[in-house]
Amino acid sequence: MSVRVYISRDATAQALGADETVAALQAAAASRGIDVRITRVGSRGMVWLEPLIEVEDHAGQRIAYGPVAASRVPELVSAGLLEAGEHALRLGRVEDVPYFAKQERLTFARVGVIDPSSVDDYLAHGGFEGLRRALEMSGAAIVQEVTDSGLRGRGGAAFPTGIKWKTVLDQATDQKYVVCNADEGDSGTFSDRMLMEGDPLCLVEGMTIAGVAVGATQGYIYLRCEYPHAAHALRAAIEAARARGYLGGNVCGSGKRFDVEVRMGAGAYICGEETSLLESLEGKRGEVRYRPPLPAIKGLFGCPTVINNVISLAAVPLILQRGAAHYRDYGLGRSRGTLPIQLAGNIKRGGLVEKAFGVTLRELLYDFGGGSATGRPIRAVQVGGPLGAYLPESQFDTPLDYEAFAALGALVGHGGIVAFDDSVDMARMARYAMEFCAHESCGKCTPCRIGSTRGVEVLDRILRGDSREANLAQLESLCDTMQHGSLCGLGGMTPFPVMSAVKHFPSDFSRDR
Ligand SMILES: Cc1cc2nc3c(=O)[nH]c(=O)nc-3n(C[C@H](O)[C@H](O)[C@H](O)COP(=O)(O)O)c2cc1C
Ligand code: SF4
Repeated sequence: MSVRVYISRDATAQALGADETVAALQAAAASRGIDVRITRVGSRGMVWLEPLIEVEDHAGQRIAYGPVAASRVPELVSAGLLEAGEHALRLGRVEDVPYFAKQERLTFARVGVIDPSSVDDYLAHGGFEGLRRALEMSGAAIVQEVTDSGLRGRGGAAFPTGIKWKTVLDQATDQKYVVCNADEGDSGTFSDRMLMEGDPLCLVEGMTIAGVAVGATQGYIYLRCEYPHAAHALRAAIEAARARGYLGGNVCGSGKRFDVEVRMGAGAYICGEETSLLESLEGKRGEVRYRPPLPAIKGLFGCPTVINNVISLAAVPLILQRGAAHYRDYGLGRSRGTLPIQLAGNIKRGGLVEKAFGVTLRELLYDFGGGSATGRPIRAVQVGGPLGAYLPESQFDTPLDYEAFAALGALVGHGGIVAFDDSVDMARMARYAMEFCAHESCGKCTPCRIGSTRGVEVLDRILRGDSREANLAQLESLCDTMQHGSLCGLGGMTPFPVMSAVKHFPSDFSRDR
């Protein structure tokens, strides 16, 4: 008897014991003389259920069990795990688990399903169909398709991807580049990592389509050094794609050249900012460049460069495969398509939820997240990383939409949501936001370099109860200078979390500690 089993190799699943579960399952099966074929896949994104095991039943359906610690494996195998039998940890098909069933998985459709290292598995699930179609189109037609899809950058600034590509396409030079921003520095975010570990060929395909569209021949993935599993998955995928002719001097026999390399960052938040990233990629200190010129005109090594986030690029193969309208049909207003949202912090069911824009924070926090992990009321959430505003409960009905968030002085950013229960001290969180800026500032401009350090001192005085009103007025004035005088978003947006905490949680700034 031979049984097919799928277990995640994702870093989160490994941290929660997936490798030990695999070893225990192999041992239990061997002792019973059962041939088990284990495929290591990406994560389905339901972190509280990892290590998740999926067993193929006699009808070819994958039946999930979770969380399966190694210590539970013998008991589960005795209960009939390998025949997809009944057990308290049996969840049925993943597609029927409510957390998963309510999602709209476009970019993450293959993650957790396919073997990330297999080109054949990728092809069997629609892989490279977008690239094949792109190769039959002109560069301008590809750019138009991406523009028509309404895709906006998922790295934070939400700039229309097609317009950026058009600027690069319009530059009349021989050497152009595609750079993938995989620095993923925002707190509470992990969708880039999950995509790169679970479906790395999708990113390779997206970058290749970008290269074909704008006339670039070389791509670089700038990956944060804290992601060794993603580095391994990407390098294996690039090699496999090259061996099968999807990368190299003759992409799919089209005569077009495109190749990709992985470059590791060294762990500075500012190297996620696109111009610092380019400096770092050129081997220099990660420091923000003055703009203009835009990277699309003068980017890597002075050449026109498309620089996009992992999720922006990974959305492209489907847009080319199914057409712009298919993607644009999801979402609302000017926020089209889906966003892979990451639920983190004090939340019962953390993980990845891919939904069309329009879903509310309340639905995400309660219907998906199940409320706080501590069982206490959720008092605040920070959306969009360390530069995102803190939103109070009264704003939880805001739909996820770039414009609706901007109207609140908040960010959707990279879609990370970090929840805090009612034990949080928001004045300390404001200090933390300011301290983060002081720590990560690249030092190029004065409002950020000096302002953030002075800001920590002002917040310390407020926390100590020294002349609170005068210090709050000084904090407001300092934040105004930082917001309007900083060279980049680090200094420019740190006022968002700081002043949103002051605005929505004033009692935390006036109480004695
Ligand atoms: C301080 C700072 C940090 C950033 N960090 C990241 C990051 O880690 N990943 C990312 O994709 N974009 C990051 N960005 C946004 C990039 O500068 C840029 O907008 C993005 O790479 C463009 O790609 P997109 O249009 O696909 O979003 C950061 C911006 C700032 C100001
Ligand atoms: S705002 Fe901060 S991080 Fe950005 S350029 Fe100025 S000093 Fe550097």
